[in-house]
Amino acid sequence: MSPDELTAAGLQYAVEGAVATITLNRPDVRNAQHPAMWAGLVRILEGLGEEVRVVVVRGAGGTFSAGLDLGLLDPGRAGEAGSLVTTARKADAEIIDEIGTYQLPFAMLADPRFVSVAVVEQHAIGAGFQLALSCDLRIAAEDARFCMKEPALGLVPDLAGTKPLVEAVGYARALEICATARMVPAAEALSLGLVQQVVPAGELDQATVTLTDALTANFAGAVRATKALLQEAPRRTLDEQRLAERTAQVGRFRELVELMG
Ligand code: ACO
Repeated sequence: MSPDELTAAGLQYAVEGAVATITLNRPDVRNAQHPAMWAGLVRILEGLGEEVRVVVVRGAGGTFSAGLDLGLLDPGRAGEAGSLVTTARKADAEIIDEIGTYQLPFAMLADPRFVSVAVVEQHAIGAGFQLALSCDLRIAAEDARFCMKEPALGLVPDLAGTKPLVEAVGYARALEICATARMVPAAEALSLGLVQQVVPAGELDQATVTLTDALTANFAGAVRATKALLQEAPRRTLDEQRLAERTAQVGRFRELVELMG
């Protein structure tokens, strides 16, 4: 994407070695999200090179994301892409398709080609929380707060966040967090398994580098195949999973023997 296209999408993007960093870059509105941003994320994720092994997602200006751009709920802004009023006038199937398009980048963060890491400061609200949940791992600053605000606005969380939330914290806690739309502070998020690490805000950048270094230290093929195995494990029986492990190992054996010359 060109610099102008990235700016229009409210995004920044950089690749350093094996690590791609995508930054939501609308700090004036706390990195609120809109359809052009989601389309931009799709283009970035589609265009990632084979060298990329970790995708870091973060927000500019000291906060992760305040979620959906609330302007899209404003009847006065009907006509803008993603406007609730405009979308609600469409046929059911069209609405479902439209939301499916918006969900794409969230689903793409599960791609086994890379490990995705959300770096969360301050607020991860609504679509922001769901974006963080769509990443494989979450590292948070002590000041981070997570909130599934959608039910408070009359909506359901619809950006691929409900499944990873239930998988992370279980059905009952997920329901409690969503139905109350309360803020979950970083320390609680850590104890619930919602985030894997919490550090003081001033140490977040260094902790992110330490994590991405560790994630890229081992064999790329082994890490990719292991991510794919772990992703599918909950859906498989033990016998099916054992078969998947054996099958994945064939490729590993072949690569290792080739490396031995
Ligand atoms: N959409 C559009 N603009 C936003 C959003 C948003 N989601 N969040 C914040 N902004 C704007 C504010 O309107 C304000 O604009 P202004 O400077 O022109 O007045 C600016 O960002 C700063 O916001 P403040 O509220 O002043 O910032 P503060 O740091 O005090 O609070 C917080 C941050 C808690 C995130 C607050 O802005 C907030 O609650 N935002 C709304 C969150 C929300 O309801 N998101 C939708 C969730 S549902 C979903 O995502 C599907």
